Amino acid sequence: MCVHSAGATLLPHRGLVYKGLGRLSWESGSVLSGAGLHLRSWVERVNYDKIFSDSIAAIKVEGRYRVFADLRRRRGAFPHADAYTSDGVSRPITVWCSNDYLGMGQHPDVIAAMHTALDTVGAGSGGTRNISGTTHYHVELEAEIADLHGKQSALLFTSAFVANDTTLATLQMLMPDVVIFSDAKNHASMIAGIRNGGKEKRIFKHNDMADLERQLKSVDSKRPKIIAFESVYSMDGAIAPIAAIADLAEKYDALTYLDEVHAVGMYGPRGGGIAERDGVMHRIDIINGTLAKGFGVMGGYIAATRDICDAIRSFAPGFIFTTSVAPAIAAGALASIRHLKSSSVERELHQERARTLKRKLKNAGLPVLDNPSHIVPVMICDPVHTKQVADALFNQFGIYVQPINYPTVPRGGERLRFTPTPLHTDADMDKLVAALNTLFAECPMSLASVTAAE
Ligand SMILES: Cc1ncc(COP(=O)(O)O)c(C=O)c1O
Repeated sequence: MCVHSAGATLLPHRGLVYKGLGRLSWESGSVLSGAGLHLRSWVERVNYDKIFSDSIAAIKVEGRYRVFADLRRRRGAFPHADAYTSDGVSRPITVWCSNDYLGMGQHPDVIAAMHTALDTVGAGSGGTRNISGTTHYHVELEAEIADLHGKQSALLFTSAFVANDTTLATLQMLMPDVVIFSDAKNHASMIAGIRNGGKEKRIFKHNDMADLERQLKSVDSKRPKIIAFESVYSMDGAIAPIAAIADLAEKYDALTYLDEVHAVGMYGPRGGGIAERDGVMHRIDIINGTLAKGFGVMGGYIAATRDICDAIRSFAPGFIFTTSVAPAIAAGALASIRHLKSSSVERELHQERARTLKRKLKNAGLPVLDNPSHIVPVMICDPVHTKQVADALFNQFGIYVQPINYPTVPRGGERLRFTPTPLHTDADMDKLVAALNTLFAECPMSLASVTAAE
């Protein structure tokens, strides 16, 4: 509510605004009486509320407004959890879209390590790594990660997003003449880092070695080069030809930067990821991973040579200027990595569960996207229908899967993305397949939109 008075706009909470003077504090008391003030015409005020409400309205019209499910996992009963409504009432649901792929967030060793750390040293780390935030937990965890990937060193970040963003930007700062070759389906965190670095980039067709080679060839051989790619692409479940990329990197003298976020803990004899599984880990220069998905806790990292890690440690703002992860988090991640280095039970069961779910969906005639990994995408190819199916699964069947829409996937590629874990039973799967069958039968539009997009 505005009140107009003596050439100024009086706003109850925001003070006085005069053209050319900017916003003046109403509390200052000097505005009207102050010498030398030249009052001119009214300022047209910016309608901030409208900017935000219009942006939300636009994504609601498109059908891709995101609603978060308010969940509380039940320790020991994952993937079963309770979903809360806004009035605080809860009901049981089964989680089908968690990236705690192996259920390590529930593992007794992980929980015990976190409890012990909390009881031993308290809650927070107390600062940035540089200023009192390097604890023995961080040092031990970095040594464990370096060993996991067979590298000289590792560097811990608050998330894999931050690790990708700040490392890729800093590499460009350290090599101003660099050209980055980025897979077309790279994750938003790599895209952010590549953009933030601001140097030259070339995008090659997804997993297309001919296109990558064509682009590598076209760049002056003396310029530094980085090939940035993922091992498991999390929305389609495609897997990169890592050995072929390493061959090209050697041939054209490029560094390799590999995001193994959707593979660490889950692939390779010790959980080192697809590069470990394929026997090519030693051919990759920088490996990025998360502690949040396969390892079930939180945090991200890179593993590389001592000098690369030291340079990123010394120059990357996203490493230097932020509080390190809490000791209990580091302790939990450490316990998780140690467990999965020596236990393959979870990995084997995980693969078996993913294969079984894909088979059940296929047998039921549902549009599952085939791929060689643990990701199980069911294509709907329309944002409104995807949300309708997800809502109905949640409300009618107690099945929680988040609709995946733009910008996570391209428009027209909307889908439900199921992530079976070792803890999902055959009965859970049968219930899911039956519910999807019912909904797809009720909503032929969903299958029609898939067919149209194929
Ligand atoms: C490919 C990829 N890289 C990085 C990240 C970021 O991982 P974090 O959750 O640890 O930030 C994600 C997150 O989903 C991802 O999918």
